[in-house]
Amino acid sequence: MEKTYEIIELDKNVNPEYCFKAVVSGNSNVGKTSIVRYEIHNQFEQDNKATLVFDHFSKNYKICDKIIRIQIWDTCGNEAYEEIMKNFYRSALCIFVVFALDDENSFLNLNKWIYDIKKINENESPIIVLIGNKKDLESERKITKEEIEKYCRKNEIDTYFETSAKNGESIHELFKEVIRKLYIKFIE
Ligand code: GTP
Ligand code: MG
Repeated sequence: MEKTYEIIELDKNVNPEYCFKAVVSGNSNVGKTSIVRYEIHNQFEQDNKATLVFDHFSKNYKICDKIIRIQIWDTCGNEAYEEIMKNFYRSALCIFVVFALDDENSFLNLNKWIYDIKKINENESPIIVLIGNKKDLESERKITKEEIEKYCRKNEIDTYFETSAKNGESIHELFKEVIRKLYIKFIE
C-alpha cells in the first residue's frame, strides 16, 4: 500500500528548513499566473494582467515534521523573452509546464518547452509536472485525454493534472503532490 503523507499549508512567516525552486512555464494566456495565485490566495482573479517577464511567489508547507518552502518563478509565455526564460530553468527542482485544454497551439508547443527544460538540465532531472488548465471550459475543450496520455507516455511524464484556476479544481491537490514528490526525492 502506498504511504500517505500529511501535508499542511503554513503561514508565510515561518522559517523553512528546506527551500525548493520551481518554475512555471508554457504559452502565454494558458493560466500560469492564475494557477499560482489560486494556490497562494485561494481565489481566482478574473482581470489578471499578462505577466511582465516574470513574477515571484512563495509558500510554506509542513510534511512529516519538515518545513518546506516552495519558491515559484512564474514566467511569461511571451516568445520575445524565451532566451531569458531559459536561465530560470537552471537549478529548478520542479518545473510546471502548463497548456490550456481549449488552446490547441499551447498543447502543440509543449515539445518546445519540455525540450528546453531537458536540454538545460541535462545532468540533473527536475520533477516535471504537466498541467492541462481551463478544465471548466468543457465545451471548448480541444485536446482529448487520449492525446494527452499518449504525449505523457512518449515523453516519460508521470505527473499530469487537469485544473481550473477559475473554480479551483485540483489546484491544491496539484501543489500537495509536488510537495510530496520533492520530499520523497530530496529529503526522505
Ligand atoms: P502570461 O503571463 O501572459 O504568460 O499568461 P498566463 O499563462 O500567466 O495566464 P493568466 O493566468 O494571466 O490567464 C490568462 C487568461 O485566462 C486570464 O484572462 C484568466 O482570467 C484566464 N484563465 C486562467 N485560468 C483559467 C481557467 O482555469 N479557466 C478559465 N475559464 N479562464 C482562466
Ligand atoms: Mg502570467
